[in-house]
Amino acid sequence: MKRLLIATILLAACRPCTDARAADSVIARGAYVARMADCAACHMGNDGTPFGGGHVIESPLGSIVAPNITPSRQFGIGNWTEAQFARAVRRGLSPDGHLYPAMPYPAYAGLSDEDIHALYVYLKWSIVPVEHGPSVETALPFPFNLRTLMVGWNALYARGKPMKHADTASGGSKRGEYLVTVTGHCGSCHTPRNILLGEDQSRQLAGASVGGWFAPNITSDPISGIGGWSEDELVIYFRTGAVVGKSHAAGGMADAIEHGLSHLDDDDLHAIARHLKNVPPIRDANTTQPAYGVASARPAPPEPVDLGVRTPDSLTDATDTDGARLYTAACAACHQANGEGTADQFYPSLYANTATGGPNPQNLVMAIVKGVRRSTHSGFASMPSFEHELTDDQIAAVSNYVLNRFGNASLSVSASDVSAIKAGGEKPLLLRLMGRLDIAAMAGALGFGGLAGGAAILRRKERIKAQFAPSPEHLPEQGEHLTPR
Ligand code: HEC
Ligand code: HEC
Ligand code: HEC
Repeated sequence: MKRLLIATILLAACRPCTDARAADSVIARGAYVARMADCAACHMGNDGTPFGGGHVIESPLGSIVAPNITPSRQFGIGNWTEAQFARAVRRGLSPDGHLYPAMPYPAYAGLSDEDIHALYVYLKWSIVPVEHGPSVETALPFPFNLRTLMVGWNALYARGKPMKHADTASGGSKRGEYLVTVTGHCGSCHTPRNILLGEDQSRQLAGASVGGWFAPNITSDPISGIGGWSEDELVIYFRTGAVVGKSHAAGGMADAIEHGLSHLDDDDLHAIARHLKNVPPIRDANTTQPAYGVASARPAPPEPVDLGVRTPDSLTDATDTDGARLYTAACAACHQANGEGTADQFYPSLYANTATGGPNPQNLVMAIVKGVRRSTHSGFASMPSFEHELTDDQIAAVSNYVLNRFGNASLSVSASDVSAIKAGGEKPLLLRLMGRLDIAAMAGALGFGGLAGGAAILRRKERIKAQFAPSPEHLPEQGEHLTPR
């Protein structure tokens, strides 16, 4: 009945829809585009209402709040024309002023007219209006609160043009490119930024730090990138978040998979994988084997590890910085004493794992700090956060033990590295300079938007998915699986 009503309204409201079925399919397409572009993940209401807004995106400059984009006339986009909507989504210019690129409009600039239309119809006619605004407001300090300063940055870094529907619709010749560069905005995390925090187009998808995590090189290079992954392996990763013997998605990638990629159809996932395998290879000078290439654990250390010490006490003894003991107490229950994980890899191996064998230890440290939480229709993955159980010294010690025995033994981590990674990683050069230069406001005029958008995008979704999260005090017995509570 409700569907019929919506369809009837649509008949009157949406010009290109010639019958009820077409209206229905425009809504369905809009819903799918919203999935591809992950709109719901950022705009979800804090009380879980779809597109209700209120989610806070932490940036080094302050908090940016994702607004209500339901059809509420007072609090959402109910009064917006399609042209106003298109300008906001593609060019970051809302009727109320410039948006910060925490909203990924530089990528969405490429959205086809048809997909913008479908998104608009979907949001405006099938979403329940939420009649209140977010409980918090965006508050950036001067001069970053001057939204008009975005004009300069936009002229440099938000110049994309809409792509053609014929090329980008299902089966189109540029479908893969569209899904990666436009809707998936993969580059907003995986492409390194230049000094003004625009994406460095000469190093597209070559890997970048985002809010403490590291979004790896996903160019087609067989050593530094995903050249050694088969198309099918990439598709499995996008659908489930895990490829045994290679990689496991945590942080912002877990969100991208849970809310977006895992909902796409097979043809689209293959189109993304094929596109990545054709992205020009970029080799990092310091890598000699793929990050998952540590093929087997190194021999056990001469001193046998005493498995008997796995008690909550050894986790709360903050003075203990013996890596082997901490590993046994905090990690071995799941990843096993020899690091090879459980037989079914539900608790995965720590060698042949891009988080431990990669060019830097960020994802290892962040996994320990934040844990892993991801659920898709193929299942769930859950590792507890040790943020409040282990000190920075202990996290460094256990990381070094893991790197030495199972991963990239040429890396090492200090307690101050851990605290810097926890604080969102190394500060972008621009921010460091701004501390010293009087022309800060000028530099900021060009750069702060990128900061807001780029450096912190990964910290955007610290949603608590506690239903699957074990606590470190209640670690499973070896090999035992968790079931969602
Ligand atoms: C990475 C998080 C993120 C994603 C993904 C995202 N948005 Fe946004 N969006 C934001 C933030 C943050 C703002 C507010 C920016 C500001 O205050 O300058 C915003 C602002 C907007 C606005 C302006 C609303 C207003 O009242 O001014 C619209 C419309 C919008 N987004 C639509 C969308 C659509 C449609 C999609 C999917 C195609 C999408 N967003 C995806 C974070 C996101
Ligand atoms: C919000 C930031 C973000 C976005 C958006 C994002 N990624 Fe990622 N991606 C990451 C992070 C962080 C990791 C590392 C995850 C881990 O190992 O825990 C990652 C890992 C990956 C990996 C595994 C690489 C490896 O060597 O382990 C692939 C493949 C990948 N991403 C592809 C994509 C594609 C394709 C898109 C766009 C459709 C995308 N990502 C969008 C942050 C992001
Ligand atoms: C309760 C079981 C459990 C404990 C305890 C545990 N892990 Fe995990 N760990 C997991 C699961 C589950 C995953 C994700 C598997 C997946 O993605 O399918 C994971 C993933 C990882 C990853 C890959 C993360 C990434 O971003 O790619 C690393 C590294 C890791 N764990 C290290 C550790 C270390 C070090 C400890 C001890 C400090 C530890 N784990 C404790 C269950 C656990």
